[in-house]
Amino acid sequence: MSLVILENIKKDYITGEISTPALKGISLSIEPGKFISFIGPSGSGKTTLLNLLGGLDRPTSGKVTVAGTEISALDRRASAKFRGENIGFIFQNFNLIPVLSVYENVEFPLLMVQELPPAERRLRVTEMLEKVGMSDQAHKYPGQISGGQKQRVAVARALAARPKLVLADEPTANLDHATAYKVIGLMHAMKKELDTTFIFATHDQKVVGEAEQIYTIEDGLLSAGVK
Ligand SMILES: Nc1ncnc2c1ncn2[C@@H]1O[C@H](COP(=O)(O)OP(=O)(O)OP(=O)(O)O)[C@@H](O)[C@H]1O
Ligand SMILES: [Mg+2]
Repeated sequence: MSLVILENIKKDYITGEISTPALKGISLSIEPGKFISFIGPSGSGKTTLLNLLGGLDRPTSGKVTVAGTEISALDRRASAKFRGENIGFIFQNFNLIPVLSVYENVEFPLLMVQELPPAERRLRVTEMLEKVGMSDQAHKYPGQISGGQKQRVAVARALAARPKLVLADEPTANLDHATAYKVIGLMHAMKKELDTTFIFATHDQKVVGEAEQIYTIEDGLLSAGVK
């Protein structure tokens, strides 16, 4: 079964009198357990597409189905619940919560949605911090760690609830070359170990080089894949 199905997705942003057509009819099926990248020029619609895939926004028309659920038809509450249980997010700016420690940031999504016993929750957090090599920094706050370390924490957070799908928008844009490679390697290892599907939006050739499948978006439409 396809993990993600997009059926003729269109998205217009309306600001005042002006309508911007950001996506103009995208149809696509994505199989589970892959490393997939959307590439394309700035303003072509990559972030818009990721937001629709994650249920953070709704298409103007068309259907988005993730793991058998039509998320484009869910109300806000149901959409948040579905997201919490099925989708992890990694952002360019890390988006860690500054007042929470590294440990608490990874624990946060588990508190939000899952009815996990506390002991199991602690085990999950500890295990994820270990996997990303951040166990010894667990007590620190985001302001006290480096960019690469922040992104490793974000990877741990995105995967803590064991989602089927992780969406990553320019996850390496704020990292130096060597650190970016480390974070990509980490995501690759997680993908293999946990059988998570990763979907990236990126300009970064390092990410693109690792992708098993690449889709190019130009001016709100898919053009032929290059891989
Ligand atoms: N909230 C918004 N309101 C109005 N227009 C928007 C909004 N977000 C994006 N757009 C417009 O939609 C189009 C697609 O933007 P999007 O952010 O998806 O591009 P992108 O491919 O992610 O670009 P980049 O590579 O620069 O991140 C652009 O024309 C953009 O100006
Ligand atoms: Mg973008």
